Amino acid sequence: MSIITCIEDLRVLAQKRVPRMFYDYADSGSWTESTYRANNSDFAKIKFRQRVAVNLENRSLASTMVGQAVSMPVALSPTGLTGMQHADGEILAAQAAEKFGVPFTLSTMSICSIEDVAANTTKPFWFQLYVMKDREFINRLIDRAKAAKCGALVLTLDLQVLGQRHKDLRNGLSAPPKLTIANIINMATKPRWVAGMLGTQRRGFGNIVGHATSVSDMSSLSAWTQQQFDLSLSWADVEWIKQRWGGKLIIKGIMDPEDARLAVNSGADALIVSNHGGRQLDGAQSSIEALPAIVDAVGSQIEVHMDGGIRSGQDVLKAVALGAKGVYIGRPFLYGLGAMGGPGVTKCLDIIRNELDLTMAFCGLRDLQHVDKKILLPGTF
Ligand code: FNR
Repeated sequence: MSIITCIEDLRVLAQKRVPRMFYDYADSGSWTESTYRANNSDFAKIKFRQRVAVNLENRSLASTMVGQAVSMPVALSPTGLTGMQHADGEILAAQAAEKFGVPFTLSTMSICSIEDVAANTTKPFWFQLYVMKDREFINRLIDRAKAAKCGALVLTLDLQVLGQRHKDLRNGLSAPPKLTIANIINMATKPRWVAGMLGTQRRGFGNIVGHATSVSDMSSLSAWTQQQFDLSLSWADVEWIKQRWGGKLIIKGIMDPEDARLAVNSGADALIVSNHGGRQLDGAQSSIEALPAIVDAVGSQIEVHMDGGIRSGQDVLKAVALGAKGVYIGRPFLYGLGAMGGPGVTKCLDIIRNELDLTMAFCGLRDLQHVDKKILLPGTF
C-alpha cells in the first residue's frame, strides 16, 4: 500500500475500499454541492503571517472544549451510518479518539448504539441529538446518554427537513445495503469491507431500534425524517432539552449572528458554526466565512466552535485564529475509517496534529492561547 501522508490519501484509499453507496454518502453535499466545495476552498483564501527566529521549544496543542481537556481542539463530528464505512465504525472511531484525547460525538443515526460505544470505551464521549416529534423517544435517548455518562449533548438544529443529495437517491442508499445485482457486483470488489460486515451484528440504526420506524432506503429515510422530525421545533424546545439533560449543551448548525444570540439566550454552553458539511442548505455561506461575524456577535458570551471543510492542521489553525475555541472533523475521520478502520482514524488525527504543530511553529507560536487574528495576513479573511 502507498504511504499515507495527508487526508487526501485517506480519501483515495477509502474510495477504493468502501462500497460506492457509502463512500458517496460521505463524500457528497446537497444539490449542486456549492456550499460543500466552498467549505474547504474558502480556507485556502486565508493566509498566514510567517514569523522567524522565535523560540519554539516546549510547544503544546492542549486546550479545552466546554471546559473539558483536549489534547488538541479537534473533535470528531457526529456522522450517521458511520458503522457502514467500516464494520463497528463508531466503536473504532470512539476508541481512536479516546486514545488521542479528543472528543468523539455519536450521532442519533449511528449504527452502533449508545450502549455499544459505552461498553467499548472508558472515557465519556459526546452524544448528538436530533429533535423528533416523539418527546418520549427524546426523553429515552437523553436518559440513555446520561446512563452512558456522555460528557456533552450536541443538539443539531439544522435538520428539520432533509437536504436532497442526488447520489444517495441514485444509489438507493440503505443500511444494511440491499442485495441488488449492482450492489453485489460493487461489494465483490471490497472484500475487506464485506469480511468486516460479516463479522458483526451491527448493521442497522442502533439508537432507533424499537422506535416506530421503517427506514429501509434513502427515500424512506427522507419520508421518515418528514414524519418523525419536529417541524415545529423552537427555542423553547431547546430550553426544555437543556433542563432535561442538565449537562453541557452544544447547539449545532448556527450560521447567522441572530441565531447565535438566541443560542446564547437558550443557556447553551457552546454553539457550532456549521452548515452540516454542505449537506443541507446548498447556497449557504461556507462555515469559515460565517465564523467571524458570529464570534463578533457572541464570542464573549459563549464558546464558539465550528465545522465544515477542515482537511488539515492549517485549516484548524485558521479557524482558531478567527475565534473558534474548537473545531470538528467529519469526512476526514470517515475517510480514515473507510481506508483502514480504527488505525485510519488514528492516522487522520495524527496527520492533523502534526500539521497543526508545524504550522504553529512556522507562525512563531508555542501554544494556542496566543492564537488570534494577528497570525493571519490582513485582507485575506
Ligand atoms: C454528517 N453530519 C451530521 N451531523 C449531525 O448533527 N448528525 C448526523 O447524523 C450527521 N450525519 C452526517 C453524515 C455524514 C456522512 C457527514 C459527512 C456529515 C454533519 C457533520 O456532523 C459535520 O457537520 C460535517 O461533516 C462537517 O464537515 P466536514 O468536516 O465533513 O467537511
